[in-house]
Amino acid sequence: MPSTGAIRVHNRHPLQGPQTEDKGCGMRLGVLTGGGDCPGLNAAIRGVVRKAERDHGDEIVGFLDGWRGVIEGDTMPLDISALRGTLPRGGTILGTSRVHPWMQDDGVERIERTLAEKEIDALVVIGGEGTLSCASRLHDDGVANLVGVPKTIDNDIGATEMTFGFMTAVDIVTEAIDRLHTTAESHDRVMVVEVMGRHVGHIATWAGIAGGATITLIPEEPFDVQEVADALRRRHARGRFASIVVVAEGARPAPGSIVVPEPEIDVYGHEVLGGIGSIVAREIEQRTGFETRVTVLGHVQRGGTPSAFDRVLCTWYGVAATEAVHDGDFGIMVALRDAKVVRVPLAQAVGELKLVEPDLWKVAKTFFA
Ligand code: F6P
Repeated sequence: MPSTGAIRVHNRHPLQGPQTEDKGCGMRLGVLTGGGDCPGLNAAIRGVVRKAERDHGDEIVGFLDGWRGVIEGDTMPLDISALRGTLPRGGTILGTSRVHPWMQDDGVERIERTLAEKEIDALVVIGGEGTLSCASRLHDDGVANLVGVPKTIDNDIGATEMTFGFMTAVDIVTEAIDRLHTTAESHDRVMVVEVMGRHVGHIATWAGIAGGATITLIPEEPFDVQEVADALRRRHARGRFASIVVVAEGARPAPGSIVVPEPEIDVYGHEVLGGIGSIVAREIEQRTGFETRVTVLGHVQRGGTPSAFDRVLCTWYGVAATEAVHDGDFGIMVALRDAKVVRVPLAQAVGELKLVEPDLWKVAKTFFA
């Protein structure tokens, strides 16, 4: 991958600690976490810091609350000791927000000012589609030297096979479904489980397969609620009186099916989702007469410790992002492809939404009622 940005290196940081790949000079490296939090953010920061400090003698600056910290110059120092004990911790020690540079007239100028004042040579931006789109635009406009790291439980970023946080969310939802099976069976009930996934149904599809869902509804496939009700009736007619219906929060009825209210838009321009599970549960109960309950898993899916898989992926991404910075390879995002971490252009990564793989969706449907 060719270098896409000029690299300024401040050659004044004394090397500290053991070094394995001494490049002879330290950089001032900024790190931020933006957008919704997810398990593994601290593990990713730790990967960046470990590689940067130990192998390159970098000085690392943490920006607080995503782009807000860069706009306002709000920082904390980061070093290996500051990250001790954070590998298994959920959330992000840097804080996060959905604030972006174009929410205010002088946002980009303020970013330029902060980066100059704090003498930041490059920024590692850990975020989802919104945060990385900002990074891509700032790169294109020549504002900063940036490298992206893909995080989001939604797993909807194109150009990578996996964002971190996703597999942990799948584990959490699968455990919830396992628990709902036993209570559903005890009461002969239909349990509707609403999970995250605003544009795509990766969590719903994976956890639906892993948890043995009776039916799964995803944004990619508008649903007919009468077909759902009919399928549940057929299942009961076969002597199965408990069912699990997994619904992604972004799932929508097909035209001509039921009408649902249009979601409100929040201050960041995002649709406020949530509630489709209750609508589906109500319709199922009315159309079948089967007692139905709804569970909305919500932010439980984003909280707590990352799985072993995510800890490894985050660490790999973090180390790889620092390597890209020291290669002067900017305007890229680290990505998982064919079980390897590679570099892809940021513009490509944020330009395409990753939908559920059709072959996997067919597998999920094989087990529907
Ligand atoms: O980060 C992605 C996501 O978890 C979506 O799945 C969900 O719709 C959204 O964030 C919720 O955002 P908030 O934390 O602002 O309620």
